[in-house]
Amino acid sequence: MSEHSEFEQEGTLGATEDYQKHIQILKAEEKSKRRRYGFLIILVSILAICLPLILVLTTRNKDNGDGSQSGGTVTATTRDTPNASQASSSGNGNDNNNPFSVGDFTVVNSSSFTINTNTFPSKEHLKTILEMQFPEAFKDPFSYQNKAVDWLLKHANTSTPSSRTILQRYALACLYFATNGVANAHTTRFFGYVISAPAWVVETDWIANNNECTWYGINCTADGLVSKLSMRRNRMTGSLPTELALLGESLQELDLYGNYFHNVGEEGHAWLDGMKQLKVLVLGNTLLEHNNGIPLVFGQLTNLRDFDCSNVLYRGPLRGDVFANLSQLEWLNIDDNQFGGPLPQELIQLPTLELLHANNASIVGDISFVRDLPGLKILWVDDNPGLTGDAAALEDVTTLASLSVKGTNIYGSIPSFLCHGDSGQIYFDCSAQLCGCDCTCSHNWR
Ligand SMILES: *[C@@H]1O[C@H](CO)[C@@H](O)[C@H](O)[C@H]1NC(C)=O
Ligand SMILES: *[C@@H]1O[C@H](CO)[C@@H](O)[C@H](O)[C@H]1NC(C)=O
Ligand SMILES: *[C@@H]1O[C@H](CO)[C@@H](O)[C@H](O)[C@H]1NC(C)=O
Ligand SMILES: *[C@@H]1O[C@H](CO)[C@@H](O)[C@H](O)[C@H]1NC(C)=O
Ligand SMILES: *[C@@H]1O[C@H](CO)[C@@H](O)[C@H](O)[C@H]1NC(C)=O
Ligand SMILES: *[C@@H]1O[C@H](CO)[C@@H](O)[C@H](O)[C@H]1NC(C)=O
Repeated sequence: MSEHSEFEQEGTLGATEDYQKHIQILKAEEKSKRRRYGFLIILVSILAICLPLILVLTTRNKDNGDGSQSGGTVTATTRDTPNASQASSSGNGNDNNNPFSVGDFTVVNSSSFTINTNTFPSKEHLKTILEMQFPEAFKDPFSYQNKAVDWLLKHANTSTPSSRTILQRYALACLYFATNGVANAHTTRFFGYVISAPAWVVETDWIANNNECTWYGINCTADGLVSKLSMRRNRMTGSLPTELALLGESLQELDLYGNYFHNVGEEGHAWLDGMKQLKVLVLGNTLLEHNNGIPLVFGQLTNLRDFDCSNVLYRGPLRGDVFANLSQLEWLNIDDNQFGGPLPQELIQLPTLELLHANNASIVGDISFVRDLPGLKILWVDDNPGLTGDAAALEDVTTLASLSVKGTNIYGSIPSFLCHGDSGQIYFDCSAQLCGCDCTCSHNWR
């Protein structure tokens, strides 16, 4: 099975391969560190000379420039701080120079963005509003949010981009700064780095001044909104930022297979909140982590057709709620997690499910569940010792073309119609309790 061999070859997330590169990478980093320190000393010297000059210039700009804009922002920051959330949630103010009454761009907290894209006026207001809403994140000058906003103010396209484009560029910059060369709890194990991590493999054009639709891995709709983001095996580290949620109204395909970002619990999945357009979501072989099965937030993704969360760190029984509304789901891959329980009814009854991969997922139960999946074409459930029952149930699933049931306790005979199909697509263990096809049985199990 191609998927299994790929998995074994790669080890866990390519650890072996990366270990071999490890020494080289360390050396290279050591060198660049030395270079960086040299650069830092020069930079500090330059700053010491130039800072007074910059200060003088900024003060003059403020005085001479568009007072209603920059002056307004600055005083608003001090004046309105304590009442910011109240003002911003109060909706349509009539003072357009007040960043907190400019319609309903409101960021309630890190897991909730409320955006009215028609009334959001400028990048400067974005910064001010974000600072009000996430005081903690913006207190740290090195936070990815701060880096992203600073980049946005310096480099973003200023020729009347829409508010949605501003938010989109902010979200992408957050992704860049949060996952490119950022250490997490696992990066030392994979790469040996302690306070950083290796950069993305490919980052062509990322956070360049040009249109984000041309950046590596991105495709856009005709309106210039991100519809597809593919960062497959791109050595992303750090954690996926909640700000990804800002792409939710346009993103249809997200492929992050084989990366090293680490996101934990419900909070670590909040970036999925509102990603209602998603049709393809590939998160396999990453370091998502959740202790209560698959997080409930996936249950909102009602347009999902293809979902892969194989070999992420999900543990605990699958909950039916997650699948109740996924009525479009055709492909589901939940391999290599530790669910330790049955497939819930809501999953078993998904009306359009064609492919189910649940290998090595500690699934417990009876194979007769297949009777409820009338359109099932591909069923791979290897290495689930808790999976049992009579293979005769498979006879009712006449659409089945590919079956793999090694390492289970399913017994009985493989239906003969499967034997006469594409024989390369049937995998079972002749030495176990199953018989049929070209295996001969020493026992008649039933
Ligand atoms: C905040 O708003 C409340 C009610 O509008 C007001 O009583 C209070 O003085 C304001 N606080 C500050 C610091 O402006
Ligand atoms: C964030 O805001 C949402 C919506 O108002 C709320 O449901 C959620 O509990 C809030 N989360 C935190 C951590 O405050
Ligand atoms: C800047 O925005 C304008 C208007 O949306 C667009 O026509 C132009 O191509 C953009 N320039 C870049 C470099 O993205
Ligand atoms: C997506 O973008 C890439 C690179 O810009 C391009 O080669 C590819 O054809 C695009 N795919 C679609 C479906 O538009
Ligand atoms: C599924 O849809 C129902 C009805 O719209 C809703 O009440 C429920 O909260 C949804 N479940 C999830 C997990 O989003
Ligand atoms: C089975 O899944 C666990 C994670 O739940 C993983 O650590 C292990 O490597 C997998 N085994 C195989 C043979 O893929």
